[in-house]
Amino acid sequence: MEIIQCAAYPIFFGQWDQLENQIKEKEYSRIAVIADENTEVHCLPILRERLDLDLNVIVIPSGEQYKNLDTASYIWERMLAIGMDRLGLTLNLGGGVIGDMGGWTASSFMRGMDFIQIPTTLLSMVDASVGGKLGIDFYRVKNMIGLIKDPQAVMIDHEFLKTLPEEEFRSGYAEMLKHGLIRDQAYWEKVKDYKIDDADIFSLIHSSVGIKKEVVETDPQERGLRKVLNFGHTLGHAIETLSFNTDKPLLHGEAIAMGMVMEAYMSYQKEMISQESFQEIKAAIVDIYGLQEMYRFPISDIMPLLRKDKKNIRGRIMFSLLNGIGTSEFNIEATEEEINNAVAAYFDR
Ligand SMILES: NC(=O)c1ccc[n+]([C@@H]2O[C@H](COP(=O)([O-])OP(=O)(O)OC[C@H]3O[C@@H](n4cnc5c(N)ncnc54)[C@H](O)[C@@H]3O)[C@@H](O)[C@H]2O)c1
Repeated sequence: MEIIQCAAYPIFFGQWDQLENQIKEKEYSRIAVIADENTEVHCLPILRERLDLDLNVIVIPSGEQYKNLDTASYIWERMLAIGMDRLGLTLNLGGGVIGDMGGWTASSFMRGMDFIQIPTTLLSMVDASVGGKLGIDFYRVKNMIGLIKDPQAVMIDHEFLKTLPEEEFRSGYAEMLKHGLIRDQAYWEKVKDYKIDDADIFSLIHSSVGIKKEVVETDPQERGLRKVLNFGHTLGHAIETLSFNTDKPLLHGEAIAMGMVMEAYMSYQKEMISQESFQEIKAAIVDIYGLQEMYRFPISDIMPLLRKDKKNIRGRIMFSLLNGIGTSEFNIEATEEEINNAVAAYFDR
C-alpha cells in the first residue's frame, strides 16, 4: 500500500523500515511509547518486533474518562522521570484517546516535542490520525483544551486490528461509511456491505485516509469544506451524549451511524437527495448496526444539546448534509420540525 504524503508528514502503510530510518536520522535524545493498558499488552509486542529502537514505555489506563488533565500530569511526570527533553520523541500507540493525549502532552512538554501517531483502532486509523487535532476533555466537555499540530509521521498497520474487539471495529467503520457518503460514491458502494475481511480492509483504510486527507488539506482550520466531515455528527453527538445517561452508552460510531441516517433523511426532506438514496443509506446502516430502538430520546432532550453545537452560527443550528451519495454541503440550517421528522425517520419501520 502506497505511502500517503500529507503537506507536512507521511502516512506510512506498513513501511516500518522507512519509519525507523526517519526516526534514527533525527537522533532523538529519548523515545517514549505512550500506550494504554490494552495496547501495552496487544500492540507493544508488535511494535517492538517492527522497530529496532531503544524504547521507554509510559502506560495510562484505557478509556475516554482518562483523557484529562490528571493523566496529562502523570505523563509529564513520567517523561521527566525518564529524562526526556525537548529533543525527545513520543510514539503514541493506541486509539484516539492515546493519539489525543500523547500528541497533546508531547506538543506542550518543554514547549513542544516531536510525536508520531501509531493508531491501533479502526477509528483512529481512518479518522483521528489525519488532521492534527489534539485535545483533552475538561470539565466533562470533550476536547475542550487542545490545539492543531501535525505529527512527524503516522504509521498504519492493520496487524493491530486483529485484537481489537469487534464492537470497536464496527464503531470505527461508521467513519468509513461517512467518507463514502460525503465524498466518493464508488467508495460507498464498496463499504456499504460491511467488510471485515483482512485483505480488503487495508486498502479500504487507505482510501478512507486519502479522502480525509484531501478534505483536511483543502481547509486545515475548518472554516469551510472540512465541516462536511461533521455529516451525521450533529444529531449523532446529541444522541451519544444522551445515551451516557442510560445503562448502555452507545459507542461513538454507533451514535454517528444513527445520526447519519437522520441527517440523510434531512437531506431528503430538503430535496437534496432522492427517497431511494435515503432508503439505501438507511438499509445499509441498519443492516450493520441494527435499529437502536432503546435510544429514542424526546426532541425536547435533543434540542438543548443541538443549541450548544460548536457548528451553530449566531444561534442557528447548522448541519452538513448530502446533496447526493458521494457529495455534500455544509452550513445548512434546519428547523425543529425538520429535526424532529429526521429523528422519527430513523425509527420508522
Ligand atoms: N483528534 C482527532 O481528530 C479525533 C478524531 C476522532 C476521534 N478522536 C478521539 O478519539 C477517541 C476515541 O478513539 P477510539 O475509538 O480509538 O477509542 P480508544 O482510544 O478509547 O480505544 C478503544 C478501546 O480499544 C482498546 N484498544 C485500542 N487498540 C486496541 C487493539 N489493537 N487491540 C485491543 N484493544 C485495543 C483501547 O484500550 C480502548 O479500550 C475520542 O476521545 C475522540 O474524541 C479524535
